[in-house]
Amino acid sequence: MTRKIKVCTLIAFSLASISCTQSEAPGSDKSAAPTVTDTRSHDYFSFANTDQFVTQHLGLDLVVDFENEALHGSATLQMRRIGSDATEIILDTRDITIESVSFVQTTGEMLTAEHRFGETHRVMGTPLFVEMPADIRNDEELTLRINYRTSPESTALQWLPAELTAGLEHPFLFSQSQAIHARSWIPLQDTPAVRIKYTATIHTPPELLAVMSADNDPDAARDGKYEFEMPQPIPSYLLAIAVGNIYFAPIGEDTGVYSEPELLEASAFEFADTQTMLETAEAMFGPYQWGRYDLLILPPSFPFGGMENPRLSFLTPSLLAGDRSLVSVVAHELAHSWSGNLVTNATWRDGWLNEGWTSYLEHRLMQVIYGEARADEENLLSYRELLLDFETINPAMQALAPTFEHGNPDDFQGVIHYHKGNLFLQYLEHTFGRDVFDAFIGDYFSDFAFGTINSEQFLDYLDENLLSAYPDKVSREQVKQWLYAPGLPDNALIPTSKNLDTAAEMAALWSRGEIDIADVPSSDWSPQAIRYFINSLDGDLSTERLSELDRALGLSDTSNAEIGRTWFIQVAQRQHRPAYEKLEQHLRRYGRTRLVRPVYVALARNGSDFELARELFAETRAIYHPLTNISIESSFRLLEEAGQ
Ligand code: BES
Ligand code: ZN
Repeated sequence: MTRKIKVCTLIAFSLASISCTQSEAPGSDKSAAPTVTDTRSHDYFSFANTDQFVTQHLGLDLVVDFENEALHGSATLQMRRIGSDATEIILDTRDITIESVSFVQTTGEMLTAEHRFGETHRVMGTPLFVEMPADIRNDEELTLRINYRTSPESTALQWLPAELTAGLEHPFLFSQSQAIHARSWIPLQDTPAVRIKYTATIHTPPELLAVMSADNDPDAARDGKYEFEMPQPIPSYLLAIAVGNIYFAPIGEDTGVYSEPELLEASAFEFADTQTMLETAEAMFGPYQWGRYDLLILPPSFPFGGMENPRLSFLTPSLLAGDRSLVSVVAHELAHSWSGNLVTNATWRDGWLNEGWTSYLEHRLMQVIYGEARADEENLLSYRELLLDFETINPAMQALAPTFEHGNPDDFQGVIHYHKGNLFLQYLEHTFGRDVFDAFIGDYFSDFAFGTINSEQFLDYLDENLLSAYPDKVSREQVKQWLYAPGLPDNALIPTSKNLDTAAEMAALWSRGEIDIADVPSSDWSPQAIRYFINSLDGDLSTERLSELDRALGLSDTSNAEIGRTWFIQVAQRQHRPAYEKLEQHLRRYGRTRLVRPVYVALARNGSDFELARELFAETRAIYHPLTNISIESSFRLLEEAGQ
């Protein structure tokens, strides 16, 4: 099912067919868009009968039990019945123990409800069926209370012992609900198609602080009982909690950062531009609808670069490079406050509406705040990653809006949603002009605010508001090509960067021995240019030359996690053994999947080190997140199947 590392079948998709043309003449696109066979908007990944009942409010009252690695307490769901003869509510759960289920009547009286679990599905978890008792069969507003307990196996929760935190003294808990993990810490309708408001009371050990994707109070008394409210309706994948020895430092009037005290000063420095980012984003995309915007820096095992939990983005500590060079991740998570959190993909199959739009808005923010040159560099690096994915991802999954029935929303599309989505929107901006496209963006976010949308609804909206309003620029068929065909259409604008071109030229000259390493002005370069330089080196370089390069540029000792990732992938691919010890340190220092998995994969594929990759992973997996481990295991499995 995993498409990411499908190295066994090198798809015969010719990269050469991606031309560098910027022609957008309508009809210039000869190949017809494929027929769309699946335009359903139901959620492939939820059991919930949302056509019969919809949740409007969730009330949580939970105890955080570090000793037993469990949350326990109650979830109270206020639901509306929309199917007139519906009597059975179906909720999503995974690895949750239900203690009791009842309906709270308007009198306050509790009515016990019959409930049962259905069959467990490997990806979707276990449906929970709840019967409406006869006494309330005619009610349209229902309050369902579920007393429950999570399992230590909850896929959303990571319970970290003190050794895996910065301070080494207190345990830490954090959640990751996207895509379909909320159901492993709360029984609920776990689909982005339903939006809920929530309140929560969280009981923790008194010395720890709880924060949520809600109205965090930086001045909350640290007494082990924390109250939260999220007054704006959000999809379930944005429910989030973290508990630990967490402190706060302000950045600007509406922005700040939470982290363990050991990282607080470095975090406030690294993310000092967050207030400016917020203000710039508001000026460009319309009002920020969520009150404050804060950041939470997690322990190293946080599996992603960032997660856009509303009001409180969760971030990997690997962004703390000391020079603000990796803050595009903050621009990205902030931009989700519009694309994703305000206007949400209806199903995970439409994920490009979240991630593609967000990558585009991230690029727009980077242009304004850090200048065109840096934005160009990052755009080109992302494009190169997209090309790599086109080589390995099944063509059917290269569509922005693919047709599929099965699979796991955690692992099917690599960076296609992100960077192909970005290029699609850059193409529209270029073709209609920035002013026209900006007006479209503003209307889109206000017309769909606090709503959900699928790819076909987007196509219709785009057609009505842009294509038809400015005829002869882009045809509906051309847009369908973007949405439903593999690869990139001919009209895509191929990113370019002067700085990165220079770095690539230097890499070629040095590789051929035409210049000395001292002639490469790398100390004037951005970390992005260093990465491009490393990726542009010739295939066959001797160990001595690689060691010389490593020494001159300090690659093995870099404090920039992305440079480390790029370098150690090369070290593994080229079997550059003098740097293997540092490679191992890299694998132990970081937990973000993006930083470690490709290094294991490069080792496993280099023809001699699959066994070493397995051993290193066996030693290190205890410090990674379960999702990271699943992802590395599945990469190894695919490589084995491919006989690597
Ligand atoms: N929402 C995603 C993270 C995510 C995606 C979690 C899919 C679970 C399933 C987040 O906004 C994201 O895209 N993070 C990227 C940041 C990068 C593209 C700037 C990451 O973690 O690499
Ligand atoms: Zn994202």
